[in-house]
Amino acid sequence: MKIQDVKKVALFGAGTMGPGLAQVFAQAGFELAMYSRKQATLDKAMVVIATNLQTLVEKKMLVPEAKDQILARINPTQSLEEAAASADVVIESIIEKLAEKKQLYGALDQICPEQTVFTSNTSYLNIFSVMPGQRLSNTVIAHWFAPPHVIPLVEVVKGQESSQETVDFIVELLKSVNKVPIVMEKFVPGFCVNRLLRIIGREVFFQLDNGYITADQLDLAVKASIIPRAMVLGFVQRYDFTGLDLSVRNLENPDFLEPPIDNAPSSLIKRVERGELGVKSGKGFYDYSDRKLEEILKDRDEKLMEVFDNVKDLIYKRI
Ligand SMILES: NC(=O)c1ccc[n+]([C@@H]2O[C@H](COP(=O)([O-])OP(=O)(O)OC[C@H]3O[C@@H](n4cnc5c(N)ncnc54)[C@H](O)[C@@H]3O)[C@@H](O)[C@H]2O)c1
Repeated sequence: MKIQDVKKVALFGAGTMGPGLAQVFAQAGFELAMYSRKQATLDKAMVVIATNLQTLVEKKMLVPEAKDQILARINPTQSLEEAAASADVVIESIIEKLAEKKQLYGALDQICPEQTVFTSNTSYLNIFSVMPGQRLSNTVIAHWFAPPHVIPLVEVVKGQESSQETVDFIVELLKSVNKVPIVMEKFVPGFCVNRLLRIIGREVFFQLDNGYITADQLDLAVKASIIPRAMVLGFVQRYDFTGLDLSVRNLENPDFLEPPIDNAPSSLIKRVERGELGVKSGKGFYDYSDRKLEEILKDRDEKLMEVFDNVKDLIYKRI
């Protein structure tokens, strides 16, 4: 399939990720059906999209007339048949439960045209194991990052039977909606970035739990060093600048203290026990109790947009 052949994108799931996904495709000019089982979820999703677009208008990143045109390209529906019929591309973004995804794929298999390309936004699951066999060559994982209308990366993960044509098509489609796709050659739970984050998280909690540093000092440390540096050197190329020989010696250092595998870090658990769940409860590692959740999320999105706008020319550049 070619990008110009895509007449309809069908999105399944309109929860946390759904609205941003719908927005990205509609903003890029695609007609999109957004399916949810509940009308209330669809209504809420449309409000979220309208609010996101209004923010873009306020930041002069979108002309005001475009807002209604974009919203008009999204067809919210509770009918699975209506959403799936004649869909060229399926984006599955329902709850992260394999049994639910399996059931949905089975139902879509009955309705979608033979050539439909299937993508799943799963974060960890091996959805290839529950996709009807005849659909596997047209299936890849396309894993987005929250908020999906702001973060450029989408991890495209090949299944054993995914055709190269499908992979190439999805990569081109994602580029055409202004995203930055990367390809993973084979499935591993957590893919690239969430695996990195999990290992980093282990060290973060080790340092916090043992009182080596406070949360705000740790965040300041990474913002003033490895985070912007990685914009230039990534995580791999930086070894070339350190020197691979020195990197070997660093690994041999017997004084380095490895963090233990601790899946119940006390800095996390004690907060959860106190009901401190992060922005959604007004407090986590930081205090947000003086602002409404919508204000906090808007603040986050605006700052993220500013950052990505500033670094977009660096993303594909290499030394
Ligand atoms: N939240 C994130 O930060 C994030 C990031 C990347 C990927 N993901 C992945 O995206 C997917 C969706 O995540 P989310 O955070 O938007 O979840 P969510 O729980 O906010 O939304 C999922 C929606 O799917 C609906 N749903 C559940 N079962 C369904 C079914 N059988 N048929 C149709 N709809 C059903 C739920 O009612 C809900 O509206 C998951 O696979 C998740 O792993 C999430």
